[in-house]
Amino acid sequence: MTADLFPVPDEWATQARIDAAGYDRLYAAAKDGPDAFWLEQAKRLDWIEAPQKAGDWSFDEADFHIEWFADGTLNAAANCLDRHLIERGDQVAIIWEPDVPTEEPRRFTYRELHAEVCRFANVLKANGATKGDRVTIYMPMIPEAAFAVLACARIGAVHSVVFGGFSADALAGRVQDCDSRIVVTADEGRRGGKRVALKACVDEAAAQAPSLERVIVVRATGGDVAMGERDVWYHEAAAQVSTDCPPEPMNAEDPLFILYTSGSTGKPKGVLHSTGGYLLWASLTHEWCFDYRPGDVWWCAADIGWVTGHTYILYGPLANGATTLMYEGLPNWPDASRIWQVVDRHRVTGLFTAPTALRALMKEGDAPVTATDRSSLRILGSVGEPINPEAWRWYHEVVGEGRCPIIDTWWQTETGGALIAPLPGATALKPGSATRPLPGIFPQLMDEKGEVLEGATSGNLCITGSWPGQMRTVWGDHDRFFQTYFTTYPGKYFTGDGCRRDEDDYYWITGRVDDVINVSGHRMGTAEVESALVLHAKVAEAAVVGMPHEVKGQGIYAYVTLNGGVAASEELAAELKHWVRREIGPIATPDAIQFAPALPKTRSGKIMRRILRKIAEGDTGALGDTSTLADPAVVDDLVANRVG
Ligand code: WT7
Repeated sequence: MTADLFPVPDEWATQARIDAAGYDRLYAAAKDGPDAFWLEQAKRLDWIEAPQKAGDWSFDEADFHIEWFADGTLNAAANCLDRHLIERGDQVAIIWEPDVPTEEPRRFTYRELHAEVCRFANVLKANGATKGDRVTIYMPMIPEAAFAVLACARIGAVHSVVFGGFSADALAGRVQDCDSRIVVTADEGRRGGKRVALKACVDEAAAQAPSLERVIVVRATGGDVAMGERDVWYHEAAAQVSTDCPPEPMNAEDPLFILYTSGSTGKPKGVLHSTGGYLLWASLTHEWCFDYRPGDVWWCAADIGWVTGHTYILYGPLANGATTLMYEGLPNWPDASRIWQVVDRHRVTGLFTAPTALRALMKEGDAPVTATDRSSLRILGSVGEPINPEAWRWYHEVVGEGRCPIIDTWWQTETGGALIAPLPGATALKPGSATRPLPGIFPQLMDEKGEVLEGATSGNLCITGSWPGQMRTVWGDHDRFFQTYFTTYPGKYFTGDGCRRDEDDYYWITGRVDDVINVSGHRMGTAEVESALVLHAKVAEAAVVGMPHEVKGQGIYAYVTLNGGVAASEELAAELKHWVRREIGPIATPDAIQFAPALPKTRSGKIMRRILRKIAEGDTGALGDTSTLADPAVVDDLVANRVG
C-alpha cells in the first residue's frame, strides 16, 4: 500500500504553519484541555467583549444544548472588514472574475468592500431590516451577493442564501419557512453565456410567499424586468444612503445565517449557524487546511448558495484578511481551459473545487490544462463528495504537476467547515481519503446495533463531541434537530455518512447511508424529488434512488407508477424530467425514469429501496432476499425494463 502514500514533501514540512508535531500538539491540547484550547483559538477573532466561556454542550436528550463562547460579543462583518482597515485597507479583498472572459475583472480593496457593505447595510435598514430579521438572498455570483451577505451580518439580520439555480417553488418554500420579509435578488444572472431570470422567479415565488414585502433588485445584466410596488432598485436606494454603518454588537450565540439543505425526509431543513463559533471555525479551518498566509490569492470555486461558498469564499478568507476570488461562471466555459486561465490571470495560489468538476475536465484530456501555466498554484482542495483516486491523481499530477498537496476536506452544511482533512505540512496523503480529523474533532464509527467499532473497520460516522462550527438548530424546529442527528446513536452527532477507517487511522468516506444522494457534490433528498414527481397529474407513485454516474458521482434514477389509463412513453418521461426541473431546479433533474407497473413493497407497504438501488446500479444479479415482498414478481418486471 506504500505506493498509495504521498509523504509530506520536505519543503512543506519545514515551511508550513503546522507540521506533524504541531498537529499532534494541537490535537492533544484540544482533547486534554478544551476550554483553555478554544479560548486561546478564539483570540484570533476581534471581540467586542472577549468570551470567558468556551464550549458548553450536551448531546443527551435531558440536557440537550450547544453553546460556544456564550458570554462573548462580536460582529462577523466587522471581523471580515473593519479590523483589516488599518493594516491592509488597500489590499484587494475580493477579485471578481466575470462569466465572459473578455470582460474586465473587478477588484475591491478591504476599504472599498467595507464601504460597499456599509452602503448595502444602510439600504437594508432603510427597507426595514433589523437585528434578528431574516433576509433571503437569491443572487448570481456577483460582488453584490457578497455585499448583501456581509451587510446582513453587519446589522445582525440573519441571511438565508438560496442558490440561484433553485426554482420559484423552492425559493418560495425557503422564504416562507423562515418568514423573510425581504428578498435581495438581481435582474438576471449569467452563467456559461446563458441568462437566468432571477427577478422573474422571485415574482413567481412571491405569489406563494405572503411574508414577502420587499424585493431589493440589483441591476446586473440590464435585462428587462417588471418592477412592481414591492420592488426597489438597489442602485436607486444606494444613492440615498451613506457608507457609514456601525456594526451591531452580537452575542456569539446569536444566529448568523440559515442555509437550507436536504434531508432524508420531508422538506429541506433550515440549518442555523451561530456568529462566534461558526466564524471561528471558518477562519481557523481556512488557515489550518490551506496553510493560508498573507499574499495568497485564494479561489474557492463554489457558489455562495452553498455552505462551501459561505465558509471558504466569504467568512473564512475575509476573517483572515485574504484575497478571495469570486467567479461568476462555469469551470468549463467557453472551453475546458477556462478554470486554468482564471488561475493564471489572477496568479491564484490555492484552488478549492469539487471532484465532479475535475471529472468533467479530465474527460477533455490534458491539453487544455497543459496549455496554461499554473505555476502560481501551491495548494489544491477538494470538497463535496468522495474523490475517486483517478481524479485525485489527475489533480495532483496534471493540474499541480506533483507540486501541490491535495486537501480533501470532508464536512457538511451542518458542520460549518471542514472536520476531517489533511494539513498540508503535517499529513501524508492517500488518494481518496480525507485522512485525519482536525484538532477538536473526535470521530467514532458505529455499527447498526449501536456499538462503537474500534480499529480498522467500516461503520456509520459519528462525532462524539461538539466543535465551535456545529449548527445550533433547525430553524423553527428544534425537536427536528435533535431527532435527526442525536437519536440514532444517543449522545453522539450522527453524520449520515458511512465510513471506513484503515490501519493508519485514516478515514475514507463511502457515501450517505440515508436516503440522501450526492449529485455533482450537491445534496439531494430522494423524498424531495419523489414529492415533486407525485405532484404531476399523471403520476400515482414514485421512488427515487441514486445510481453511479461517471461525472456527477451519483445520478438520479426515478421509478414511476402512472395513474390508471395513462400510457408510458418517451415523451412522458421527458415531460416528467422537465417537470422536476421546474419544481426544484436543474440540479434535481432525473437522469433516468423507469415506468413501473408497481413498486416492490413489503407486506406492510414499505418500499424496498435496497432492491431499487441495486437495479438502478445495474447490480441485478445479487438482489438478496426478496421473499418478504408482497409480490416478488414485481421485481422481475423492474429488472427486465431497467433504463440505461
Ligand atoms: C455531504 C454533505 C462539504 C460542503 C459541501 C457539501 C458528502 C462532502 C466530502 C468529501 C466524501 C463528502 C458527505 C456529506 N461529502 N465532502 N470530502 N468526501 N464525501 O455539503 O451539501 O451539506 O453535503 O457531502 O456525504 O455528508 P452538503
